[in-house]
Amino acid sequence: MDKLVIQGGIPLSGAVRVSGAKNAALPILCASILVPETLRVQNLPHLRDVTTMLTLLGQMGVEVSLDEKLGVSLDATRVEHRVAPYELVKTMRASILVLGPLVARFGEARVSLPGGCAIGQRPVDQHIKGLEALGAQIEIERGYIHARASRLKGARIEMDLVTVTGTENLMMAATLADGTTVIENAALEPEVADLANCLNAMGARVNGAGTDVITVHGVDRLYAADYRVMPDRIESGTFLAAAAATGGGVRLSGARADILGAVIAKLCEAGAEVEHGEDWVALQSRGKPVAVNARTAPYPAFPTDMQAQLMALNAVADGTSVITETIFENRFMHAQELKRLGAHIDVEGNIAVVQGVERLQGARVMATDLRASASLVIAGLVAEGETLVDRIYHLDRGYECIEEKLGQLGARIKRAN
Ligand code: UD1
Repeated sequence: MDKLVIQGGIPLSGAVRVSGAKNAALPILCASILVPETLRVQNLPHLRDVTTMLTLLGQMGVEVSLDEKLGVSLDATRVEHRVAPYELVKTMRASILVLGPLVARFGEARVSLPGGCAIGQRPVDQHIKGLEALGAQIEIERGYIHARASRLKGARIEMDLVTVTGTENLMMAATLADGTTVIENAALEPEVADLANCLNAMGARVNGAGTDVITVHGVDRLYAADYRVMPDRIESGTFLAAAAATGGGVRLSGARADILGAVIAKLCEAGAEVEHGEDWVALQSRGKPVAVNARTAPYPAFPTDMQAQLMALNAVADGTSVITETIFENRFMHAQELKRLGAHIDVEGNIAVVQGVERLQGARVMATDLRASASLVIAGLVAEGETLVDRIYHLDRGYECIEEKLGQLGARIKRAN
């Protein structure tokens, strides 16, 4: 099993390029199912989750090919196997995103129910309820969601809570429905808007994505398109937090400040200076960070996917901070590992109180999920001596070449097994 070995204590300095967004790429790849022609996707990040999604689509019958410019072409003219098996869904919950497109185009889908997950229960009831509102018949059989419909019918759907992949699944399903669908209490995440832009490039009629009311006028069919995935705001935020925690500076090319508002605001509150242009963001720290409180909530508030990284920064900040996690019920597992490096953190329910310490000390730690891994890497970059982060397969699900990119910024980090 691969590990990362980090010699900490070096402030990050330099420039890196941000990759395409994992959470936009995954639904966009699934959108290929909606069209009996080729969808070409550019700026796909090289990540394990993307490979898993391509494997799943390939197993269904989608023809996947890589072109000379590293774009991926997906041709779903024939999709004979309309199944997402347990073996793949258990490794990547986002596999649920094939459900809406399969029912919309083929009137049938069998998708394994994702089980619980390290960070919480994560049910998919809103996906199911929404598809039922669009006229699908859904049965749960032997751990699988079995959905059937002759043609979906546009409907008004009020989501009981804000769900990102739930909104995306229903938005994709509605593109081919008969009539108009209105999704209320939709997720505002920029990745939802990126998916909508891709769908519209394919001939769909989606309005309002990026607001909490999305209207989809169903069309009879979609067409070939070429689409470039947006930059990854969580990867961007992770590098910015790492630069701030190590007392360094970083310039991110290909990054968008407009979708990083809450993260940039927190890093500025922690004492860093941030500048940005149309496709770059630069952060310069001014000494030791100052502790900042944060409460996670759906976009545009502070993202749960940045909570662990901010906790690593707070662990070495001046003062005490309170971090409240409101999205997932068990997303503080990194706290125990950060404590092994010398952090002072008390967790009670969904609240963590972090008392900044003068220094962390390198130790052996274990990654428990994707963003927890990123927080351990940040802590390792700050800590004195050597930190060994084990189980980094979690990290490879969501960060492209992280050790190379951090190496470019002067970090002493290497992969070992
Ligand atoms: C997406 C992101 C993930 C991020 C999360 C929250 C992708 C591929 N993943 O995950 O990185 O951490 O948004 O920003 O985009 N819920 C229900 N019923 C449902 C669906 C969700 O109760 O049917 C609950 C979940 O348990 C959770 C909350 O709603 O407590 C938000 O989850 P959701 O937005 O659906 O997360 P994902 O879309 O799975």
